[in-house]
Formats: sequence, structure tokens, C-alpha cells
Amino acid sequence: MKTQLLDANKAEDIQAAGEILRSGGLVAIPTETVYGLAANALDGKSVEKIFKAKGRPQDNPLIVHIAAEEDITPLVQLFPETAKRLAKAYWPGPLTMILPKSEKIPPQVSAGLDTVAIRFPSHPAAQAVIHAAGVPLAAPSANLSGKPSPTTAAHVLEDMDGKIEAVLDGGSCAVGVESTVVTLAQTPPRLLRPGGITLDQLRAVLGRVDLDPAVMNPLQAGAKVSSPGMKYKHYSPKANVVIVDAPFEAYCQYVNSHKEPGVAALCYSGEDSALQVPAICYGEETDYAQQARELFDALRKLDDDLKAKTVYARCPQPEDVGLAVYNRLIRAAGFEVIHLE
Ligand code: TXA
Ligand code: MG
Repeated sequence: MKTQLLDANKAEDIQAAGEILRSGGLVAIPTETVYGLAANALDGKSVEKIFKAKGRPQDNPLIVHIAAEEDITPLVQLFPETAKRLAKAYWPGPLTMILPKSEKIPPQVSAGLDTVAIRFPSHPAAQAVIHAAGVPLAAPSANLSGKPSPTTAAHVLEDMDGKIEAVLDGGSCAVGVESTVVTLAQTPPRLLRPGGITLDQLRAVLGRVDLDPAVMNPLQAGAKVSSPGMKYKHYSPKANVVIVDAPFEAYCQYVNSHKEPGVAALCYSGEDSALQVPAICYGEETDYAQQARELFDALRKLDDDLKAKTVYARCPQPEDVGLAVYNRLIRAAGFEVIHLE
């Protein structure tokens, strides 16, 4: 299949994307978080193609994207008061809510669960495509399963060229990590995946919100998973990533004493000049939003530009949006962390 490159700034290209989706095809679309690989969420056969293109495990459910708050109503059994308050505060935006699903949601979308994940993205092109398609869109991140999520159309093509009908190029994604996922299908609500909407922002609206232990820690063998996505290896470049939890001086010393071929560093902006190995920066040390925006591109560059074999990464601060950065990087590292004084 030849993958068409469409332009999110052209009205006729938005219409073309909508047409492909209506007729059962796949289009990668920009959102404010990462690019999504979209299909008609109401048609199980179209949704199956997403799993095939990504190589995604069948038991990992998808997020359904809507372009108006009221469009959630037919998709869920009930749109409770708590969800309405969250929607008022943070929709459209990088927040996904899990609620008991209605019979309109095909089993392929929910991977057999009785709940569904719903998000109303703020990206104007995402909204325009949903309108043009005239149906809600199921869309996981548009990467091959296991790889870092794509934040540019070029990243999408690296993984999906020849596998999908089209990519709608809308430039770089503003948030850069996937949406915050909170489940309201249990009490108290629980944060399953941190993202652009922080835990404090959720608590400001909902009061008590629990943090799922799998956000920070590896899953214990045999433990019950709240979100199937937690089980899988994620965000992994080909290189072996190791997080070095240390003040900058100690980090520098450690990296410079491992100056071997194939060793590279993933550090904060401006730190590379002190390092004696090739390095990629991912934002200022104190600017968590910038780290989020740059992380996935940095992970791809470690493979593509540096051909790194081993990467020593600076440890993100797990607070505010930094919690999302920490959550992604610790998975990219397979939870391998070296602690130094
Ligand atoms: O920002 C985003 O959320 C992006 C863009 C494209 O919107 N999408 C995205 O989708 O990150 P995906 O499929 O890569 O991640 C969805 C996550 C997975 O970890 C999945 O297990 C979880 O949400 N999820 C989906 N439905 C669920 C459900 N009913 N219950 C629990 N977890 C669910
Ligand atoms: Mg994903």
C-alpha cells in the first residue's frame, strides 16, 4: 500500500482523511499529545486493522476520540457528575477518562473489557478530522508497538510507511507524551497513566485520586493490572537505556568513566559540553513540559543519529508533568536505575 502524505492545513486534505476513515481505512492524525493511528471506532473490522499495522497485542484496548463533549453520551452507560466536572476543567485536552462502555463500542476497541477510554483532543486538526469522518475515532499512538510514540509526521512514516492509507501532517505535537489516563469506573478514581494533566490538577477537581502503583514501579508477577498497557514493554529505543539517578557532577563522572564505543548520554540542555560521549539533550532540567515535548524525539535520535548501544540517562523528577516523563523513561529503561551519591 502507498501511504499518502496529507497536509493538516488544507481543508481538502482534512476531507480526504475523513473520507478514508469513513470507508474503513487508517489515517495517522496529529493531536496535542502524540500522533494517533485512527480508525472508525464504531466499526470493529476497521479497528482490527490498527492492531495489525502496529503489531499491538489484542488485549490492549484503544482510546476513543470525540470532537464535542456531548458525543461521549452514546458511548458510555452513564456520564457521571465527576466526569462532567473533569470535562469542564480539562476538555478538550490531554485527558482520557475510563467509564463503563455502552453497547455501541465494539469489543475490538475495549479489548473485551466492560469499560471504554474516551478523550476529546484540543488539536484543531484532530477535531476537524473527527468532524469530517462523522464518527468517533479509535486511535492508539501511531508507533509500532513497543517503540517511542511519534511526535512528528516523519516519526509516523518511519514506523508506518506502506502499512496505512495516509498520514496527516500537522507539525510537532505540543505536549509530546500521551494523555493522562484516569479511571472513573472505580472509587476512588485512579490515575493509570500520567500525562499533560497532572495528578494535582485531577485532585483539584475530584478530591481523592489514587496513583496506580504501576505508574512508578514494575508490575509484580501475578498482580492484577488496571490498564493492560502497563504490562507491555514500551517506549523502547533499540539502545539499552539505563537511568543514572545522581547529581550532575556524579552523573558526569560516571558517564565519562564509561567512555566506550556505543555509549551515549541522554542529558538536560547545556549539559552535553561536560560529557565525553555523544549526547542528546531533552530539555532544561527544571522545565518538565519541555522534557515531555522532547523525550520521544530524543529516544529516536539515540538510535537513528547516534546508533547508541548503551545510553546513560539523567533521572527525571517525578513531579507535575515530570511524573509523565519519569513514567515513560523508566519504561524505556526497563526499570534499570543506578543510584549514585
Ligand atoms: O494521548 C494519547 O492518549 C494518544 C493520542 C493518540 O490520543 N493515544 C494513546 O493511545 O496514547 P495508546 O493506545 O497508545 O494508549 C492507551 C492506553 C493504554 O495503556 C491502554 O491500555 C489504556 O490506555 N486503556 C485504554 N482503554 C482502557 C480501558 N478500558 N481500561 C484501562 N486502560 C485502558
Ligand atoms: Mg501507545
